[in-house]
Amino acid sequence: MTHENGLPTVSLDPRLGPGAALADPLSDAARARVRQLGAEVLARYPRPRSAMMPLLYLVQAEQGYVSPDGIKLVAELLGLTTAEVAAVSTFYTMYKRRTCGDYHVGVCTNTLCAILGGDAIFAALKEHLGVPNNGTTDDGLVSLEHIECNAACDYAPVVMVNWEFFDNQTIESAKELVDRLRAGDLPTPTRGASLVTHVETSRVLAGFPDGLVGEGPSAGPASVVGLQLAKERNESAPAVSRSKERP
Ligand code: FES
Repeated sequence: MTHENGLPTVSLDPRLGPGAALADPLSDAARARVRQLGAEVLARYPRPRSAMMPLLYLVQAEQGYVSPDGIKLVAELLGLTTAEVAAVSTFYTMYKRRTCGDYHVGVCTNTLCAILGGDAIFAALKEHLGVPNNGTTDDGLVSLEHIECNAACDYAPVVMVNWEFFDNQTIESAKELVDRLRAGDLPTPTRGASLVTHVETSRVLAGFPDGLVGEGPSAGPASVVGLQLAKERNESAPAVSRSKERP
């Protein structure tokens, strides 16, 4: 089964489970907003194709996911083929093919987090929420996904909500986290800004700040312990050679 523009309406990604990817057309208003804000994005780059990823986030901010129609619009704005844009939007898992919950919960199940409890947390949340991987609760508030390493191994096991960190999680703390999300009692991330919805996060990732970027700590003590030790020992990295000659 294919959409009228030739793109598949069913997911090619088995992680999405049995549900088909969505293929709603953009509304006229959404299309106009993507065109208007997209012009701002395009002006930031010397070459139009460099704006592809923020433009895809703009589409996601309108629809909650990236539809084939959205891909077609981005291709048109960039002067590219739909195949070129689809190749990017289906490669990166942060671009969704169907709507997420307002709060998209990612449990890291990569090696370090997995062995320190990530696998158990993910299994427990699936059961607690009653959803499979990439599933969304019936109230539309929370979706769940197992994700790869988030470069936060020093705080393993980590859980992310709309890409903000909740460090050193346990089964119980993760259950409490999703319960609070569903109750509207938004928890404060261990690091990063206050939570906003997945759609609002997509707009920020498109390059339209919400003013929260400076909130919360970024690196924590465990992240900089190597730097502190190096300073105490008066150690430094070797100087970078400026020579253009390669060995
Ligand atoms: S393995 Fe989970 S953040 Fe790196």
